[in-house]
Amino acid sequence: MSQPSEVILEGERVTKYFGGSAALKDVSFQVTRGEILGLIGPNGAGKTTLLNVVNGVLPPSGGTVRLRGRTITGLRPHAVARLGVARVSQSPRPFTSMTVLENVAVGALFGGQDRGSKASTALEQAESTLRFMGLHDKRHLPVRSLTLQEKKMIELARALATRPEVTLIDEVMSGLNPAEIEESMRLIRRVRDELKVTIVWVEHVMRAIMGTAERVMVLNYGQVIAMGTPDEVARDQAVIDAYLGRG
Ligand SMILES: Nc1ncnc2c1ncn2[C@@H]1O[C@H](COP(=O)(O)OP(=O)(O)OP(=O)(O)O)[C@@H](O)[C@H]1O
Ligand SMILES: [Mg+2]
Repeated sequence: MSQPSEVILEGERVTKYFGGSAALKDVSFQVTRGEILGLIGPNGAGKTTLLNVVNGVLPPSGGTVRLRGRTITGLRPHAVARLGVARVSQSPRPFTSMTVLENVAVGALFGGQDRGSKASTALEQAESTLRFMGLHDKRHLPVRSLTLQEKKMIELARALATRPEVTLIDEVMSGLNPAEIEESMRLIRRVRDELKVTIVWVEHVMRAIMGTAERVMVLNYGQVIAMGTPDEVARDQAVIDAYLGRG
């Protein structure tokens, strides 16, 4: 068994320049196995860029990313996925002509650690993930017929079907009504509790992140301005000034 306090993912002075401006500057963080870490901050703060650097979509300009103590900086996304890190994008890009089940099975087949698993195994994994998420009834629908929120949940299902150890989630709650937010919060907790997935979760819906994450990291202009429990960051004057106080 792993120790409860094991650091599964960490960044050390991660820096990313786009032209002359730094989207991330010396961002250091540690994610403990089994936790839900919230990542918040104003638009353009660097949240998506940080996820992109962690999962290999973007090479950093400086700094190091480690997974289970192993340096993964500069690995390509498929290699990072194979090591157990899944990603849910801010803008879902499913295969719209394929069914829900096929989309999730593609994740299971190509995305994860069990590379080379048989198509039948991938389908079973996709079925059980959709059942877990309460989407099994929709499995034969073409993805194009789904709402944006359902498409985002399909992205999450596709990520989970790879059986990741860590999942990076980028904004799945925007545009939801309060009941849907509650339901999605419960789902994310179940992903952690029942599937034992460590979660790094970018979200602007504060109620959701503050009610779900154990710790919250706050980025502003590419720098970490706070890291702590939801209560701690909500009371932090720098966080209030930069983000929370703006309504
Ligand atoms: N591929 C890119 N090329 C150039 N600049 C980029 C690129 N991606 C992001 N940026 C810039 O980097 C900064 C951080 O952007 P990022 O998308 O990471 O912010 P964010 O915190 O995710 O914002 P949001 O909450 O709006 O999604 C912004 O100034 C953005 O314009
Ligand atoms: Mg973003």
